[in-house]
Amino acid sequence: MVLHLKLVLTTLCALGCLLETSTACRSEVCRRKRSVITQPQITLQLEGCTGRTKPWLRQVSYCLDKSSAEVALKIKSWYARTYTLCSSSCNHVRAGTRDRSNIGTCVDCFKTHLLTADFMQWENVTFTEISDCLDRYIYAALSNEVPSYVAETRARGKITLPQLRPANNWWSLTVKLPCKPPLFQFWNAYCINSFADDVRARDFVLTQNKLVKSRNIIFLATFSESCRFDVNDVEIVWSESVPAFAAPQVSSFPRSIPPAAAEFGNIFFNQAARERLRRTDTARLSSTPTSSRGPKRRRRNVDITDAAIDITPINLGVKMPCTVRSFEVSDEIGVPVSVQSNGKRHLLDTSRILRNIDTLNFTLDYGYSMTGCLFGSSEAEFVINPPPGWLAAQERIQCYTCHSANSEAECLRNGRVELCPAGFQCQSETRQISINKITITKRCKQSLACENNYINNNREQCRPGHQPSVCRCCCGTHFCNDDSLVCT
Ligand SMILES: *[C@@H]1O[C@H](CO)[C@@H](O)[C@H](O)[C@H]1NC(C)=O
Ligand SMILES: *[C@@H]1O[C@H](CO)[C@@H](O)[C@H](O)[C@H]1NC(C)=O
Repeated sequence: MVLHLKLVLTTLCALGCLLETSTACRSEVCRRKRSVITQPQITLQLEGCTGRTKPWLRQVSYCLDKSSAEVALKIKSWYARTYTLCSSSCNHVRAGTRDRSNIGTCVDCFKTHLLTADFMQWENVTFTEISDCLDRYIYAALSNEVPSYVAETRARGKITLPQLRPANNWWSLTVKLPCKPPLFQFWNAYCINSFADDVRARDFVLTQNKLVKSRNIIFLATFSESCRFDVNDVEIVWSESVPAFAAPQVSSFPRSIPPAAAEFGNIFFNQAARERLRRTDTARLSSTPTSSRGPKRRRRNVDITDAAIDITPINLGVKMPCTVRSFEVSDEIGVPVSVQSNGKRHLLDTSRILRNIDTLNFTLDYGYSMTGCLFGSSEAEFVINPPPGWLAAQERIQCYTCHSANSEAECLRNGRVELCPAGFQCQSETRQISINKITITKRCKQSLACENNYINNNREQCRPGHQPSVCRCCCGTHFCNDDSLVCT
């Protein structure tokens, strides 16, 4: 039994060592390098594979319900030898082959060598468990298969997931849009933007859970004058290192523009999976703080884990970009979940629902006709076990600021980042002052003025390309006034 475990770890490492980040990958699927979520250095380094072994190590540790430190220790001594022994059989795999017979040759080599390897003592791990982990994580990883993507119309795309994909939904797919359309809907997928690194509101980090039966993810963009593109220009990035199953996931919303008075959707959150990941992922570090030096692309450093290690039950915070009229949550059969709300923040008390319930239903009334408050799945931020006082906290956000710049580039060059006072939001204002000339002003703005007045005024006054035109937007997350016309 233990021999098979060696196979698991060795083959994964061999593969993990060879993946690189792709760069130029418009209208096709890129594979992202495997380390996506901020992670620690694993102290027990593996020869030949230093720094690249973490995702598979986490996967196998999770699968075996063993700590990653323990798994790393077990495989350390024999890893390098087996890797070398199989180097010729695995040439094709290392070169990224998708040919099943070449992959089989590589896998067989590992099996053969492991059968003759020293028996490794591992208490409480059965043959069945090991072979199950082998099936679930290795062969999919070795297959080198990536999703395929087709543009079905100019606004609608279809992503077909690999037949063999990392088990337990240990993957994510980022749909990177050239700009953020007013409405972006997706089917057969859930959004985990709150837990992905380096994403913007126009990027949708998608995954699946047990509620989804199809491997075709469909998306549809509804355009406006200020955001229009061809879905052939959408970039899709596939990553096999995100433990998406352990993060709160949200379904696509809203369903229309303007939104219905009662928009609805699901939140999927498997708390048991998250706890198991936390238990096995022992070599994890917390996320690094966001840098505030100079105007930079917004970067969310996120980890699916949280600072409060041993708090159970788990509460879930939802931070929205603007204040909605109502947000109600129930479990699958309609039993209400208590939600405390304070402006844009909502705290879901999940302690009173059974621990094996992982699907919540929500109903959302944006109050759009009065305040213009509107946002989609990528912009609601989920916080696992927010610290005490989170709900009442007055947030101070950072915004880009510049005065009457003639372009985004100039605004970025001459502007700066400001930490706004509590109760302020980021605002962008773009004026068309002559046919070929615009001015862009970005600043911190008192929230109420920003939301109530400007979003309303904006409807009549914003006509990009025409004169006169003043477009303003207003948003409440760090650096969200990055794009002056479509701030999110
Ligand atoms: C094996 O399982 C037994 C019973 O659950 C437990 O007492 C023991 O500590 C376990 N050993 C290891 C090494 O995990
Ligand atoms: C909750 O959502 C699921 C999935 O969308 C649906 O099947 C179910 O009927 C909903 N339950 C309630 C009480 O609305």
